Amino acid sequence: MDWYNSKRTQFRHRPAATTSSSGLPMSDDYRVSHAAPGAGEHYNKTYDAGYYAALWIKIEKPLVEATLGALGGPHKTCLDFACGTGRITNVAAECFGKVVGVDVSLPMLACASVPNNVQLHRIDITSEALGETFDAVTAFRFFLNADERLRKEALQAIREHLNEAGWLICNMQMNATSPFGIASRMVSRLPWSQVRNTMSIDELSTLLTAGGFAIEKVTPYGYLPRPGRLLPKLCEAWIEPVERIASSIKIPARFAQQFLVVAKKR
Ligand SMILES: C[S@@+](CC[C@H](N)C(=O)[O-])C[C@H]1O[C@@H](n2cnc3c(N)ncnc32)[C@H](O)[C@@H]1O
Repeated sequence: MDWYNSKRTQFRHRPAATTSSSGLPMSDDYRVSHAAPGAGEHYNKTYDAGYYAALWIKIEKPLVEATLGALGGPHKTCLDFACGTGRITNVAAECFGKVVGVDVSLPMLACASVPNNVQLHRIDITSEALGETFDAVTAFRFFLNADERLRKEALQAIREHLNEAGWLICNMQMNATSPFGIASRMVSRLPWSQVRNTMSIDELSTLLTAGGFAIEKVTPYGYLPRPGRLLPKLCEAWIEPVERIASSIKIPARFAQQFLVVAKKR
């Protein structure tokens, strides 16, 4: 669970835009989900150690490098939408000549450290265009927790910022059909439980297709279910072997907790 979900959980029955005991403002609007002071530092800690850190370093980063590497080039450009603290922006910077990262959160952008071929902008491109188009747009860990309207507005903005036949590369961090996704949905139904969003490959494909994209490739990953905050060391040790076994015995994509989608602007 990311910072947004963990904080939202505590205030499920409270009005939107309230404030947590730690002073972090809460809202059901995903645009302000990471706006509180300290959000960037908090987000970066997710990737310091444990399940998400191991998944990122051993599985997801190499996958993003290979995917962006195949689409990039020194004369190609990439926009990292909802770039946050620059996790994906930095990978894109290795693969594209020029990268622009956009996010609405200053505390997130303030924690981004990027190379010279990257420009970062605090801007909401769903309401204000950047005035340039790109060969590719990345959007990671965004669609799961954005509400329906923001998802559509974001896709429209992304499409408008893409060159003809440009690429959208995005991911889903909680596949609804994975064991953890199924468990999350069941637990979410309990009245005292936290709300955890999930989205299946079919659901994201439908959203992207309706938004004017053609799905070219879906890559499942993250076959080791995350056992909450438990056993971080075990996760670190098992993530890679489980991924290798899942791929060699061809475990269906629906069981993977995450997936990466490459889609083309129609
Ligand atoms: C979970 S973070 C993901 C950060 C980064 N993409 C990554 O994968 O590490 C989600 C980000 O979406 C940003 N966001 C939400 N609505 C946005 C919008 N309309 N335009 C740009 N960024 C937005 C938030 O501020 C937050 O930084």
